[in-house]
Amino acid sequence: MKIGIVGGTGKEGRGIALRWAKAGHQVAIGSRDAERAAAKAAELSTSEAALSGADNAAVCRESEVVLLSIPFSGHKETLEGLKEALAGKVVIDITVPLKPPKVREVNLPESTSAGQQAQQILTDSKVVATLHHVSSVHLSEADHAIECDVLAVSDHADALETVLGLLKDLGVRGFNAGPLKNAVALESLTPVLLHLNKVYGGSAGIRLTGLG
Ligand SMILES: NC(=O)c1ccc[n+]([C@@H]2O[C@H](COP(=O)([O-])OP(=O)(O)OC[C@H]3O[C@@H](n4cnc5c(N)ncnc54)[C@H](OP(=O)(O)O)[C@@H]3O)[C@@H](O)[C@H]2O)c1
Repeated sequence: MKIGIVGGTGKEGRGIALRWAKAGHQVAIGSRDAERAAAKAAELSTSEAALSGADNAAVCRESEVVLLSIPFSGHKETLEGLKEALAGKVVIDITVPLKPPKVREVNLPESTSAGQQAQQILTDSKVVATLHHVSSVHLSEADHAIECDVLAVSDHADALETVLGLLKDLGVRGFNAGPLKNAVALESLTPVLLHLNKVYGGSAGIRLTGLG
């Protein structure tokens, strides 16, 4: 599958990009700066997996699925700018609305979530919100197994199925966690995990138990 990563130059996007490229997908790194994207793609490419890089809009146009991996501070403006390039695509939004320096406290946009905000802007795209609970620390080394479960929410059943398949290719168990409005719960848990990291050390993830 052709997958683009908006903000793929950053901490979270690079590990995801590398893992999907190793799984055989055609992965393009996106950036506000095409040269930075090309440099990151060259740095991540190996003999087994070649990645490409371009500016965010070009990457969106060329991809079937686009993962958004940018800070919440740039979320609304970036999506408004990419709305046309993202029309008809599955958009994976992993954004956690955090307000530095208080990243260990819940800080959702009023009566919504980043995932819902994305779908409100991207009326011609299918948004799936997921991967809020997997730290870049776990993703960064492509040979390192990720001991975390991943919850995914969407109002588009077909897009959710596609993304659950892509989560498997990242090496994690993905679960259908309901409609997009449940993104409020998923995005709220991340600051709690960041709090746990501070108190107990490490990089916390989640594991589901008791399912049939
Ligand atoms: N890091 C984690 O462990 C983790 C875990 C779960 C979820 N997340 C979520 O994943 C997303 C990315 O996290 P990250 O740690 O990778 O962030 P990051 O490294 O701080 O930023 C990622 C990329 O976003 C682009 N960017 C920065 N500011 C921007 C703006 N105002 N507008 C548009 N693009 C901007 C930059 O790329 P260019 O300068 O090249 O454009 C940057 O390389 C966040 O929403 C975060 O909540 C992160």
